Amino acid sequence: MQLPFAFLLAMSLALIAAHLPDVLADSPSTTHNIVVDDTDGSPDGVYKVIYSPPDVWKAGSAKGCDGCLVSGIDASKVRNGTWHEAAYDAAHPQQITATILFNGDAAAYAGTGISVYGLFPRTNLNATNNVYFFYAIDNSESQAFGYLNATAGYDSSQNSTAAVDYDVSLFGVSGLNASRPHNVTLLVGSGGNPRSAQQQDLGLSSIFLLDYVVIM
Ligand SMILES: *[C@@H]1O[C@H](CO)[C@@H](O)[C@H](O)[C@H]1NC(C)=O
Ligand SMILES: *[C@@H]1O[C@H](CO)[C@@H](O)[C@H](O)[C@H]1NC(C)=O
Ligand SMILES: *[C@@H]1O[C@H](CO)[C@@H](O)[C@H](O)[C@H]1NC(C)=O
Ligand SMILES: *[C@@H]1O[C@H](CO)[C@@H](O)[C@H](O)[C@H]1NC(C)=O
Ligand SMILES: *[C@@H]1O[C@H](CO)[C@@H](O)[C@H](O)[C@H]1NC(C)=O
Ligand SMILES: *[C@@H]1O[C@H](CO)[C@@H](O)[C@H](O)[C@H]1NC(C)=O
Repeated sequence: MQLPFAFLLAMSLALIAAHLPDVLADSPSTTHNIVVDDTDGSPDGVYKVIYSPPDVWKAGSAKGCDGCLVSGIDASKVRNGTWHEAAYDAAHPQQITATILFNGDAAAYAGTGISVYGLFPRTNLNATNNVYFFYAIDNSESQAFGYLNATAGYDSSQNSTAAVDYDVSLFGVSGLNASRPHNVTLLVGSGGNPRSAQQQDLGLSSIFLLDYVVIM
């Protein structure tokens, strides 16, 4: 069942206002959640995040992050010590995506939604602070990409003075059919959005720092 775009957007904004420990603690299905690390994937190896183009996504760890724009990240505060950064430059548009496929053939677990967690840069002298992205569910060209300005939703509810916030719930979808495979694709910035002409393509640069995904 496809959910109306407006519902997904409203739900995403609600998730942004929430923080990870609350979200997981309140979930009745906590023990069934599967955590998919940005680098290691899920513990059973079934799920991985697929990055495109691979070289645009920079891999960060305790050793640092070659090519990353956001510096000063404490690897001990990110899950499994790793994160991925992608920067979308509106002056040089390109399609930058991260995809997670679940409920496929190898899956022993039937999920009905995901939450995506990452880092939120506050002071970032070398790049934009905008966390501006779209997402698509189940690869339907005709279906609108959800659009989210996490900067607006997030800043209004936090008082952090840190350079980077950790464990930030960036977006989520729920209510998907557990009996079907699903494809949730994140699009950083607006490059390559098939629906960008009809939606809010403000031509803004964006940054995205992905830490992990929870399949619920
Ligand atoms: C900006 O980039 C320079 C050169 O790569 C680096 O030395 C500096 O730490 C960066 N500053 C921030 C705030 O990321
Ligand atoms: C990732 O961290 C979790 C705990 O957060 C741990 O159970 C798991 O073994 C770690 N995986 C790897 C590959 O280090
Ligand atoms: C997942 O969805 C994205 C966006 O619609 C699409 O580009 C990609 O080909 C899909 N992947 C699979 C394996 O269906
Ligand atoms: C996102 O929100 C921030 C903070 O409210 C604002 O400065 C920025 O212009 C917004 N970006 C978009 C694309 O709406
Ligand atoms: C943020 O700080 C202001 C001023 O100290 C306070 O009134 C407000 O309640 C704080 N908001 C949150 C979400 O903590
Ligand atoms: C969920 O998917 C299964 C398998 O495709 C289908 O039989 C079922 O009707 C779907 N349920 C709903 C509520 O769409």
